[in-house]
Amino acid sequence: MTQDQLPESPRSVLTDLSGSPPKLDPDTMALLDSFFKEKAEEERRFAEIAAERAALAAARADEMKPIISPEEFRLAFGEQWQLSQFWYSDAFAERLASALNGLCEPSTKIAFLCCPTAFVGFQHFHPHANAMLMEYDERFAVLSPQQFVHYDLNEPDVFPEDLRESFDIIVADPPYLNEKTNVKLKTTVDQIIKPATGKLVMITSTIVEKIIQNLYGESPIGHLKRTAIEVEHANQLGNDFAVWGSWDGAEDFGKQ
Ligand SMILES: C[S@@+](CC[C@H](N)C(=O)[O-])C[C@H]1O[C@@H](n2cnc3c(N)ncnc32)[C@H](O)[C@@H]1O
Repeated sequence: MTQDQLPESPRSVLTDLSGSPPKLDPDTMALLDSFFKEKAEEERRFAEIAAERAALAAARADEMKPIISPEEFRLAFGEQWQLSQFWYSDAFAERLASALNGLCEPSTKIAFLCCPTAFVGFQHFHPHANAMLMEYDERFAVLSPQQFVHYDLNEPDVFPEDLRESFDIIVADPPYLNEKTNVKLKTTVDQIIKPATGKLVMITSTIVEKIIQNLYGESPIGHLKRTAIEVEHANQLGNDFAVWGSWDGAEDFGKQ
């Protein structure tokens, strides 16, 4: 290797010609500053929520206080893009909760797979003892520990045995927009949904519509119908999202 092929030394990257560390321009500094302030505020809110829920659980009073609102959730639980986290808007979380509540009776068992904001919205506006959040991200366990089940769709057959064939409704928003992910999620759904009567509410991008239509074409879930409710995320997404339902008349789900 000749001298001019040698990689730059770290020093040459981190210093300018005068030998002093490079200075960021004021706009970048301001952006970084606001990013770190936002992160610190998010951590403070998370710690506060975790402490409050733990105190309520210790006093066995957690069922008496509804969990935080979708807005409080969004401010305390930052999206982790490596886990493909993109939160719904507060308005959509509330509309979805109300549409789901219309499908429920007090005894209904409802699971939220990979959609924490949907769980939070539902539990905030229509608290329901038989609701469960099945998620990979353990942060959400602080919201309501007895309603949280750690779930990794890469191990789709791993879930507590008492959940087998137990759910009247499953709401799912798979993290990745491909067939492999949807096949894994369906492996779980098929095993935890109540045979014959269970309803699936699938929230995902229209770019995987063909995949989900092919996967759920047959029993036990049956053909999926596109519903009336319009999905909205807190931050604009490039993909068009929609909601599908597996039951007869699902087209009217979310109709105003
Ligand atoms: C596309 S997001 C859906 C979130 C939804 N928009 C909401 O606001 O509630 C997918 C979710 O899948 C979860 N996730 C990522 N990897 C996972 C895995 N291996 N198993 C189960 N869930 C996973 C993420 O934590 C994230 O909450």
